[in-house]
Amino acid sequence: MSSPLASKLASKIRARQQALAEQGLLRQRQALSTDAVLSDAEPQFCFEGQTYLNFSSNDYLGLSRAPELIAALHRGAQQYGVGSGASPLVTGYNEAHLALETKLCQITGFESALLFSSGFSANSTLCKTLFDKQDVVLADKLVHASIIDGLRDSGADFKRFLHNSTESAERLLAKNTVSALITESVFSMDGDIAPISALSALCRAHNAWLIVDDAHGFAVLDTMVGNTSEPSDIDAQIVTFGKALGCQGAAILGSRELIAFLVSNAREYIYSTALSPANAALALAAVEHCEAHPELRQKLQRNISIFKQLCQDADIPLLGSDTAIQPLIIGDAEQTLLVAQKLKAMGIWVGAIRPPTVPVGSARLRITLSASHSEAAIRRCVKGIAQVLTEVALPRVSERPAR
Ligand SMILES: Cc1ncc(COP(=O)(O)O)c(C=O)c1O
Repeated sequence: MSSPLASKLASKIRARQQALAEQGLLRQRQALSTDAVLSDAEPQFCFEGQTYLNFSSNDYLGLSRAPELIAALHRGAQQYGVGSGASPLVTGYNEAHLALETKLCQITGFESALLFSSGFSANSTLCKTLFDKQDVVLADKLVHASIIDGLRDSGADFKRFLHNSTESAERLLAKNTVSALITESVFSMDGDIAPISALSALCRAHNAWLIVDDAHGFAVLDTMVGNTSEPSDIDAQIVTFGKALGCQGAAILGSRELIAFLVSNAREYIYSTALSPANAALALAAVEHCEAHPELRQKLQRNISIFKQLCQDADIPLLGSDTAIQPLIIGDAEQTLLVAQKLKAMGIWVGAIRPPTVPVGSARLRITLSASHSEAAIRRCVKGIAQVLTEVALPRVSERPAR
């Protein structure tokens, strides 16, 4: 027998799920098989007996399957065990964490670092620990959900500036006493790059901090710190290990004072089991691997160029990104799912991104490239997209209205 409260909740759940289903916004998981992944250099996986080319992961350098890093995780587990066993301030922080933090500071120029089990946790914790209702904080219109959630929880007065618009940011800086401005280095759903130097100059002029979520730039853009050559331009930077580094976890980088403040005040850090030391050792090995193999970044750049050229030749209307994230706006959420489904039928798996992840009316395919894609796989992907666009009659580049 369910209680009145339980049935009230059950009705709410059913109504909400039905509404999402009607809008084509219901989300479902698919348990993929990784058997084929380890045995094959091409990014692909199996699902229900079918093999798919993977054009939807953030494993930009193909490191999640690199034999050297599989060995590093194994070594880390043998040395430290598989878990940290406690929160960092109890007994969960060990020499593997310190070694990774030290390395991250060395390559980025920041004084200090703090590790988390995920980028989501790092972003939301930073925002809700640093700000309170006395702060005005500016955030780019397209920043990640973890930043928005953290800002909401903080109680700060948070205002959005138009995506990548320094004019819009400047107008808000001129009108308000702003504590900080937050942006991403490479935007996760659009693939474009923030004007970090210009934003930094504005922040300096208005005595505000600049905070950069470098989840999709770290270890991919030319410098290890994202698209800034001067770490002193940035007051806090969030790097994640689950994208180009191919593993898991994240770090906040900043001044010694900021990190000490977070150690004493950030609830997710204080009251959560520390990232496992084996994972910290793995992330360190991944950073060193990136440093030792610049050709991986070159291969990624080459694959991005090949993809863009082939799309241009096929009149496929990409958004114009120069990074590994290549969006193709479809607009309608259900049509986006249909297009992705048709590509799956051809053995090509791309992300179908729908609201609320992206603004209403801008549902899209999010095609991501990796250094480990072969040219043949990229050709197959573009050919598939061109064919599906013809089937669903999506306007080509020349026929599209300006965005
Ligand atoms: C821009 C951005 N920041 C932060 C995160 C969260 O990182 P993680 O996947 O490590 O939780 C993501 C991942 O989706 C992201 O795209």
